[in-house]
Amino acid sequence: MSILEVMNETIQIPDHYKNMNIEEMEARIREIKAKFGTRLYIPGHHYQKDEVIQFADDTGDSLKLAQLSANNTQAEFIVFCGVHFMAETADILTNENQKVFLPDMRAGCSMADMANIEQTNLAWTKLQHIFGDTLLPLTYVNSTAEIKAFCGRNGGATVTSSNAKNMVEWAFTKKERVFFLPDQHLGRNTACELGISLENMAIWDPELEELQFEGDVNNIKVVLWKGYCSVHEKFTVENIEEMRNQYKDINIIVHPECTHDVVQLADFAGSTNYIIDKLQEADPDTVWAVGTEMNLVKRLAQIHADKKVMSLNPNMCPCLTMNRIDLAHLLWSLESIEKGNPINQIIVNKDVAKDAVKAVDRMLHRS
Ligand code: 13P
Ligand code: SF4
Repeated sequence: MSILEVMNETIQIPDHYKNMNIEEMEARIREIKAKFGTRLYIPGHHYQKDEVIQFADDTGDSLKLAQLSANNTQAEFIVFCGVHFMAETADILTNENQKVFLPDMRAGCSMADMANIEQTNLAWTKLQHIFGDTLLPLTYVNSTAEIKAFCGRNGGATVTSSNAKNMVEWAFTKKERVFFLPDQHLGRNTACELGISLENMAIWDPELEELQFEGDVNNIKVVLWKGYCSVHEKFTVENIEEMRNQYKDINIIVHPECTHDVVQLADFAGSTNYIIDKLQEADPDTVWAVGTEMNLVKRLAQIHADKKVMSLNPNMCPCLTMNRIDLAHLLWSLESIEKGNPINQIIVNKDVAKDAVKAVDRMLHRS
């Protein structure tokens, strides 16, 4: 379901939550957590706001949260503090007695919405026509369950930013070419890391329904879906130049959803967890410009007060959809469970889940 469809079907948070103060909301959340104990599990992605993260039973990047969901067989109620595709992945990986909820259904991901199943089926037919049976589909976990199921059905797998290199390497042991959805930047940056030249990469444009490539198509090794993250695309080469002009010994670290130019000019590039670990290991008094989501950058700056940590783009905003989950929505979700009338359950269609789990399992077994 696209974010627009979700918004049309979304029930709004009752007004009385807007009149509660922070202390009241925090106290109620603590009370419900204590009451439910291990029957309730709250995973939180690193991009979530501090007001929400303080209540997370576990925090992680998308890979770690998928692994934790797969291993948690105990919790009856999983209140996922992240975005829609992450909650879908948790639903795919948990058993039938476990229910997954997203505190605000508007917490989607604009990148995941850039590839729908109709577009993907059409692209696949056209690409098979050009390349025959030489392509393996891989999808970034930032995609709908239907796209994951498409990959599962066709021998492919999911990837996250922390295992993309391993997974693309694996894909090439299966087929001659990779069809990478929906983030062109992660696909391009990962293929480059594996020594594949930009000249061997083509773009699939889902709007124009065409393959964009100059030269002999037999030379294509990777077909990149033309999707992107609107948050990470806002880090630019100019941002890097300005930072380097301002601070002589600055370290620039970015997420691989940033453009190829930015990743090439940065000192380090890697997943959310990689960025967290790198800052943890860094010496005191070092200076860091970080190209990733703002809630995380702000948290890193607070944790590492002995270092100078700032956003690579000084005018950056947080990911708006991640930010939809706030204290009030978390409380609303928990109180609805307490009342026995839970709202915003994420249910992946059984047929879709059956194929999607194949793609996710292929990744988890290699991570
Ligand atoms: P990670 O895989 O690093 O958690 O990233 C998820 C995401 O949505 C980045 O924009
Ligand atoms: Fe999606 Fe980008 Fe937000 Fe991550 S940061 S959830 S990729 S829109």
